[in-house]
Amino acid sequence: MWDFYFKIKERLKKYSWVVKVYEFILIKWRELLRKHPKLPNDFCFHSMYIHANDPFTQKNWEHLRRGYDDETFIKDTVQKIRFNTMCSYDALANLAAIVRYLEDGQVSGAFVETGVCQGGSSALMAMVSLKWGKTRRLLHLFDSFEGLPRPIKEKDYCEWMKWDWGITAKDCDGKMVSSGALIAAKADAEAALFSIAKYPEKLVTFHVGWFQNTVPHAAKSMGSIALLRLDGDLYESTLVCLRHLYPLVIRGGFVIIDDWGLKGCRTACEEYFEEIGIRPYIHFVDGTVRYFVKE
Ligand SMILES: C[S@@+](CC[C@H](N)C(=O)[O-])C[C@H]1O[C@@H](n2cnc3c(N)ncnc32)[C@H](O)[C@@H]1O
Repeated sequence: MWDFYFKIKERLKKYSWVVKVYEFILIKWRELLRKHPKLPNDFCFHSMYIHANDPFTQKNWEHLRRGYDDETFIKDTVQKIRFNTMCSYDALANLAAIVRYLEDGQVSGAFVETGVCQGGSSALMAMVSLKWGKTRRLLHLFDSFEGLPRPIKEKDYCEWMKWDWGITAKDCDGKMVSSGALIAAKADAEAALFSIAKYPEKLVTFHVGWFQNTVPHAAKSMGSIALLRLDGDLYESTLVCLRHLYPLVIRGGFVIIDDWGLKGCRTACEEYFEEIGIRPYIHFVDGTVRYFVKE
């Protein structure tokens, strides 16, 4: 939704008083939401998340300090990519901490994100890697750039999807066609990686298409993975990535699950853990994001 906020603000930017009124209304609306969250009970992207694009957060930006190591650097980096990501401030700060840990330890392997959208979280990985890495990483970035495919009703559907994504139970037939939700342009992701993060183009591979087609094929020649960031929101989108990419994650590598708070993603993870007989400790990051380390 901050994406939507930004687009409107861009259109209004010549009329500064209109922007002020617009932001005032948004802040009041956010305050109202905090007091009266009239949202479905299964809604998992709560208004209490700290998002860098939230006008409320921007207004109080200089006071934001959560206690992360390197927080000044993290804040500067998050500011640069905030229009390109849906991830919360805590999710991005945690991602930065993990990337720095892998770089400091010179843990080998590529950084992979499945669900790149406008490229914000991928660009953050790139910028942190450039800052702390002694050698350069390969980045493998997957997205349809047609948005989410249609969810599977029994696995994924929750009432809030209609409210937030415009997806009704009727739309959830599991077909590999765009649901119309979360459509991003590849050009925006490229701008995040190459213009904002300034990551070397030759080290980045965009795998464009449905994960179900691209991931099994790419996995054959990808080599080892140090960081696997799963951000495909849905059951099938998560399961196919785990089945083909988790075996490539090296011991001591990290798996970030952006959508543990979503029913379909969590079910896919739990089914996969059972399938391969592991029971990892899942670390909390924010209301929906989790991570674990491969043993
Ligand atoms: C929540 S967004 C990713 C957000 C992004 N990481 C960020 O920083 O904001 C989820 C993305 O996953 C992609 N996606 C989900 N399932 C997919 C699938 N089966 N194949 C290809 N792309 C998929 C969507 O196109 C969408 O761009």
